[in-house]
Amino acid sequence: MKAIYLDKKNGHKSLILGDIPQPYPQEGEALIKVHATAIMPTEFRWIPTFNTPTGKPRPFPIVLSHEFSGTIAALGAGVTGFKVGESVYGLNDWFTNGAQAEYCVAPATALSHKPESLDHIQSAVTPISALTAWQGIFEKLKLQRGQSILIHGGAGAVGTFVVQLAHQSGAHVIATASSASMDFVRTLGADEVIDYQNTQFEDVVQDVATVFDGVGGDTLQRSWSVLKPGGKLVTIATESEGATDQRTRDAFMLVRADGSQLTEIAELIDAGELQVFVAGVFPLAGAREAYDRAQKGKLRGKIALRVME
Ligand SMILES: NC(=O)c1ccc[n+]([C@@H]2O[C@H](COP(=O)([O-])OP(=O)(O)OC[C@H]3O[C@@H](n4cnc5c(N)ncnc54)[C@H](OP(=O)(O)O)[C@@H]3O)[C@@H](O)[C@H]2O)c1
Repeated sequence: MKAIYLDKKNGHKSLILGDIPQPYPQEGEALIKVHATAIMPTEFRWIPTFNTPTGKPRPFPIVLSHEFSGTIAALGAGVTGFKVGESVYGLNDWFTNGAQAEYCVAPATALSHKPESLDHIQSAVTPISALTAWQGIFEKLKLQRGQSILIHGGAGAVGTFVVQLAHQSGAHVIATASSASMDFVRTLGADEVIDYQNTQFEDVVQDVATVFDGVGGDTLQRSWSVLKPGGKLVTIATESEGATDQRTRDAFMLVRADGSQLTEIAELIDAGELQVFVAGVFPLAGAREAYDRAQKGKLRGKIALRVME
């Protein structure tokens, strides 16, 4: 099958377009004919990208991008709830080959039927960001109606979902964004937007019940002081994963695949209650250029790769 892959441990300039063997579904898995996927520039720094769960090097070729929208091409034994030919969106395992390819395999529990109101490009940029927002807000922060939430990176791929879901939950939403994105973040439901390039958020925000940090580093460290006593903070920033201080380790969350939550997200999208933002679309063969664009930032949403023309 046609794929974009790495044949050595390196950055996005080393991505190769070529043919690699097609995977086949094992028990409990589905084979997906990928229509579209989405990229995450930080994936080159993730542990599972180049290592097995036991820490040994993963074999090459390695295929990136673990979220997708496509159709079911085949089902492994024991899968119920899906049929060949149905349109689905979802995630596959971080330690296996991803979706920058004509086919990938995924556990059936990590899939949902695709939102009907979205095309495959819009659907492909949704799983990781929407699930991260969902799990951060509802599982980790347990955000309640009437509580305040400070969201760092409100215009980002995850941030756009966090702002919308927090607003719908009846929270008072304060988001940070670059000056060019402030109006955009207001349209998503933020009650207050802080221009992070010109204002120190701690000068204007105090005593919030919750913080959702999508930025990390100095932004994360300065956030502890704006929490009220008993307040909760979640950080998803990749650099927080390797933190040595216990407070940051406890606050870090790694998204997990969850087909049931994807179904709830699809229902919100189809009801017009959750908007999806595609920051750009590149053909599969243009993957290197897609990463170049993503690294420049100033995006609203995520960059998709069109796998099936
Ligand atoms: N732990 C997990 O499970 C998980 C899941 C998904 C993502 N992540 C990670 O979470 C982070 C965010 O992901 P993403 O996909 O949303 O990235 P993204 O689309 O690049 O969004 C990041 C946003 O942060 C903004 N920003 C940059 N510096 C900022 C600052 N100092 N203060 C406030 N906002 C700032 C950027 O705005 P401008 O571009 O306008 O400057 C951008 O809108 C990444 O590190 C990603 O790898 C982790």
